Amino acid sequence: MHEEYVKDMYDHVKKQNTWRKKECINLIASENVSSPLVDDIRISDFMHRYAEGLPYQRYYQGTKYIDYIENKVVELAKKIFDVNFVEPRAISGTVANLAVFSALTNHGDNIATLSIPAGAHISHLGVGCAGICGLKQFDLPFDEKEMNIDVDKTITLLDTNNFSLIVLGTSLFLFPAPVKELKEAIGKETKIVYDAAHVLGLIAAKEFQDPIREGADVISSSTHKTLPGPQGGIILTNNAEHYKKISRAVFPGIVSNHHLARLPGLVIALAEMLDFGKEYATQMIVNAKKLAECLYERGFQVLCEHKNFTKSHQVAVDVQNYGGGTKVATKLEKANIICNKNLLPWDKPKKSLNPSGIRIGTTEMTHVGMKEKEMERIAEFITDTIIKEKDTEKIKKEITEFKQDFLEVKYTYKLSNMSPNSI
Ligand SMILES: Cc1ncc(COP(=O)(O)O)c(C=O)c1O
Repeated sequence: MHEEYVKDMYDHVKKQNTWRKKECINLIASENVSSPLVDDIRISDFMHRYAEGLPYQRYYQGTKYIDYIENKVVELAKKIFDVNFVEPRAISGTVANLAVFSALTNHGDNIATLSIPAGAHISHLGVGCAGICGLKQFDLPFDEKEMNIDVDKTITLLDTNNFSLIVLGTSLFLFPAPVKELKEAIGKETKIVYDAAHVLGLIAAKEFQDPIREGADVISSSTHKTLPGPQGGIILTNNAEHYKKISRAVFPGIVSNHHLARLPGLVIALAEMLDFGKEYATQMIVNAKKLAECLYERGFQVLCEHKNFTKSHQVAVDVQNYGGGTKVATKLEKANIICNKNLLPWDKPKKSLNPSGIRIGTTEMTHVGMKEKEMERIAEFITDTIIKEKDTEKIKKEITEFKQDFLEVKYTYKLSNMSPNSI
């Protein structure tokens, strides 16, 4: 009998729930917590089912409710992002990128993306989806001071090579990408794919940029970062031909079971964004600026002071003076502040195990109701841990106490007893 595994798993999940949800300040920019409504509806019979194909044209029986729900995802996503076509069956942002790259390129094509130190996600590169699709990846020129693509140099690069697509949108994403400038400069054959994994919630709230109107052919994204849905992926476009190819790439190409149980929660998260997203996204950005400002005032080398630090939910800090990203992020974890080490544009990719920077995001702490005053406290906690080198055990206790007022997700509906799981 191996019953002890059961207790062991329950114990460890409980420990995780208590630690990360109740005792930590989570500053991982790519994470968020979803609302209790989204959490509640995620555990359902859909966890056990298949629905290959498109709504009402499935290869399985028993799908009438998921057909309805999946159409609701499409309906709401069309409304929020003002697009004609939505593909919700990619099960993550990486799978969305794989589907888009494989649909819109041929083996051996050139694609241009940022490098990892300049912020690209691994899926954009030769080691990731681009490599799987047999694409030759070129780095887009990057302006380290402006923390953005160098448009003039990029235009020269695009003129001298034949690219089937360029990928804009990154994991380290402080300022809107120059979609419009590049669209105006490049030929029709080069498609622009905008990876909105990080900023989809900001785009939904019209608080960052409008990639499709600015000229992006396709948006690929995760659904669980600034857009606080269940973990998953989504692809948006106005181009019928692209949609057809992408849809075929998703199924039957890459995904069989598209993880149905996430879709009802995604509908709720999209509805929440329609009703509360503006307020939430605005506060995320205000909080990021405030946190950056407070860290800068306390002596940290926060990037882009000349540009008011950020226009997104992210802040980037060069912590080489304090031993580098690994040392700093590890020390912060000891005090219950969770963030990630991050390569900065001047780092060699090989430095990924000890990069110069840390990346901080206000996504989750804003979602649980923190505002500017709390950003000041967080900056103080970080300063006490890294610059003043105070006792981390003591800081940890203070943080656990501080967190107790921020255990509930805001920007959601006040509904109770809705659980569908008590039949
Ligand atoms: C820009 C970007 N694209 C794609 C992804 C991958 O998304 P997922 O984790 O949903 O596969 C990430 C993950 O953080 C990301 O930052």
